[in-house]
Order: sequence, then structure tokens, then C-alpha cells
Amino acid sequence: MGMSLGEDGPPEKPGPNAQWGGRFAGGPAAIMQEINASIGFDRALWRQDIRGSLAHAAMLAHVGIITPDDAARIEAGLRAIAAEIEAGDFAFDVALEDIHMNIEARLVERIGEPGRRLHTARSRNDQVATDFRLWVRDAIDGIDTQIATLMRSLATRARAHAADPMPGFTHLQTAQPITFGHHLLAYVEMLARDRGRLADARRRLNVCPLGSAALAGTSFPIDRAMTAAALGFDRPTGNSLDTVSDRDFAVEYLSALAILAMHLSRLSEEIVLWCSSPFGFVRLSDAFTTGSSIMPQKRNPDAAELTRAKTGRITGALMALLTVMKGLPLAYAKDMQEDKQPVFEATEAAILCLAATDGMIRDLTADTARMRAFAGSGFATATDLADWLVRVLRLPFRTAHHITGRLVGRAEARGVELAALSLDEMQAEEPGITADIYDVLAVEASVASRNSFGGTAPANVARAAQAWLDALGQTSVERAS
Ligand code: ARG
Repeated sequence: MGMSLGEDGPPEKPGPNAQWGGRFAGGPAAIMQEINASIGFDRALWRQDIRGSLAHAAMLAHVGIITPDDAARIEAGLRAIAAEIEAGDFAFDVALEDIHMNIEARLVERIGEPGRRLHTARSRNDQVATDFRLWVRDAIDGIDTQIATLMRSLATRARAHAADPMPGFTHLQTAQPITFGHHLLAYVEMLARDRGRLADARRRLNVCPLGSAALAGTSFPIDRAMTAAALGFDRPTGNSLDTVSDRDFAVEYLSALAILAMHLSRLSEEIVLWCSSPFGFVRLSDAFTTGSSIMPQKRNPDAAELTRAKTGRITGALMALLTVMKGLPLAYAKDMQEDKQPVFEATEAAILCLAATDGMIRDLTADTARMRAFAGSGFATATDLADWLVRVLRLPFRTAHHITGRLVGRAEARGVELAALSLDEMQAEEPGITADIYDVLAVEASVASRNSFGGTAPANVARAAQAWLDALGQTSVERAS
């Protein structure tokens, strides 16, 4: 045994590796051991490693490569080791490099000879590829559930605010009135696509590497379909060389997470804006804000800011893995051991960001009066006026646009909104204008008129929110005001 993790004092000089050290006389230099070992992080794969080994051992016995008795001892030993790790009683050993050899060595320690048969017809190369696919598959399932939860929270708030006007922006300039519900449902659409990307990645990753061995397959009469089925994979992979070299599945997963994180970051950015006092559209409670140590008035939306910032980690993880993989000749190279930390870190960040975003969406209170007031300011209904000129007076849109522009100029010069112009002033620009024009200048009329499919009309928004809730399966979401 070599030095164990986290020990202080001078490390004892390691001897040859217990698993592969047969032809080695001396042990690795301390720095060699340090750069080589992955146990510090790949211990996170222990559940998947044990699942994979259980499936492999059962298959070996099924085809007669090991005896049923050996398989039974291996199974009992692996289950005992799982219990040890679960209980925190397992001594991870850095001299054993990684999770695979830590578990195997412990198995031999516990059950002796049969444990030394487990690695028949297998290599760490197909083993790690299997473990990692299983881990990513589990991660996708967890994140998918979290996204669905966030979508439900957004759709619930959207249904409640289906008719509450707010300013819609382009260039962050007031553009046209929309409803708050419509704005929230935009994120539901994005998150649905995120789920689709993850589901797509999951479908492609769900093939079993076991049996590819080191790179060329194996001469043992293994049953790859059996291990694949036992681990919930759709089928065995098709080419042993590709199998031990492929990390596309992790790259795809990180790509999907990076896009998800980009969406969460945009929502967070909006929450930060909406919470700022110049906007004042929403308020987060004490549960989702922090104070300043110097400015007593501050309520900082730190969870939104950190969600925005953690996008950097997730995008960074994608870049890191792409860079690790881009120059590797087939098949396995130790570079590929660097695949895990980016995936683990990105997953941890995504889990946290999804939970925090869901918390904020449930927590926030909308100042609907303030949003409504701003929805009508900044000549937000100018397009409605132009549309009226087209619809009622049959003017060409470009002409209507021009007339409206002059009316906006008049209002601006007087420092008032369009609805404050008198009919005389309106008619000075276009004699055909009647008092009916004032109806379309109101914010409520404006949003209600945008009833094209996918538009912001409250009836549309309420229908869309309900459709999402039906599709997602209703679960109660508290604090939906
Ligand atoms: N810890 C290694 C990894 O994560 C396992 C595979 C080692 N394979 C090898 N041929 N050295 O990639």
C-alpha cells in the first residue's frame, strides 16, 4: 500500500502498483503518482463501477468463464464494498490510482482468489467508458427532472400573470407592451428545448462499452448483449476501438448543459434588472437576497448573479473536454482521464443553478402596477397607432409609420405620451384620424390585439400556460400569486 489521501508528513516511498506492477521493480516517483492518480475525483463513479462489475461477473458466470460459485462470492464482495463506501468506511488509496483498482483491490482483500478473476475479458478502458456513461445517464435524468420542475414553476407564474402588462423590449428599449406571463413562457419554451437536447444526448449515449476490452475486443466467449441489457443500455457498442476512444457522449451532454446554462443566465440577468430600483418590476424576499455590509438599503439578488456567473464554469467545462479530445489518436490515451472533472463540476453547477432559479421564480413578487405603468410609457403603443392607420384608413404601412413618427415627435416635444395628444393635433398630421384612435393606444387593448398564434394576447398566454402545465403534469406550486 502506498500513501493514503490527505495524509500529512513525508509520503512513504510507494512500491510497484499492486494491480499492474508485475514487471515493475520500483514504484512511481511521488509526482508521477500525483499526476497519474484520479481517485481524488473518480471515486464519484463508485456506484456505477460496482453496477458494471456486478453485470460483468454475472455474464462471466453465465457463459462459463468463471464458476457460479466465484460469481456469487464476487457479487457478495462487491455488495459489501458498496456498503463500506456508503458508510464512509472505505479507505481510498492513491497508490491504486483510480476507483476501478481501488474497488478491485478491496475485493481481492475481502474474498481472495475469486476477486482476481473479475477482470477477465475486461480492461479499465471499457470499464471506465461504461461507468462514465452510466454516470452521465443518471445525471441527465436528475437534471431533466429539475428542468421540468422549473418549467412548472414558470408556467404557474405565467398563468397567474397572463393578463398583466409589462414593457416588451428590443435593444433594451421599450418596444411594445407584452404580458409578464408571455415573458415567463418564453423561458418555458427554451427549457423545453434544453430537455429535448438532453433526451437526444441520452438516446445516443445509451449503448454499452463492456466487452470492448482494452481496444480490440476479447478472445473470451462473452455475451455483450447480456451486460448491455443488465445495465439498461439499448445494445452493445459496435466498434471496440471507437468505444474506448469515444467521449462524444460527454461532449454532447456538456453542450446541452452549456446551452441550458446560457438560458438560465439570461433569465438571471433579467431578474437582476427587474429587481434593480430603476426597474422595480419584481421583488425577491429576504430568502433570496443578501444585504450589503456598508449600504443598508441594498437587497442584492446574489443567487441570480451567481447563476449568471456559473455559466462560465459550464461553458468552460465544454471547452476543456473538447480541447482534451481534439488531438488524440485512437484509441485510449491517459489524457481521457481528464474527462471527468469538467463533467462533474458542470453537473454540480447546473444542479445548483436550476434549484436556485426555481427558488427565485417561486419566491418573486411582481409589482404589476409598476410594470403596467411602464408598459404604456416610451410610446410603446406607437405600432398600434400605425396599425390602426393601415387597418381603418387603408394607408400603406410605410406611410402610416411616417405619420406615427411625426406624432411621436410632437408628443416628445411636449413631454407627453401619445394618448395625451388632442384629436386636433392628431388630425394635423392625418385628417382621417378619429377619436377611435385612443382605444388602441391603451396598453390593455394593445396586448389583447396581439392574438396571432404565439402572440402576447392574455387569452393566448393563459391557454399556452395551461397547455404547458397539462403537458408537464400538474403538481402544486405554492405562492403562485
Ligand atoms: N483512471 C483511468 C481513466 O479515468 C481509467 C482507465 C485507465 N486505462 C489505462 N489504460 N491506463 O481514464
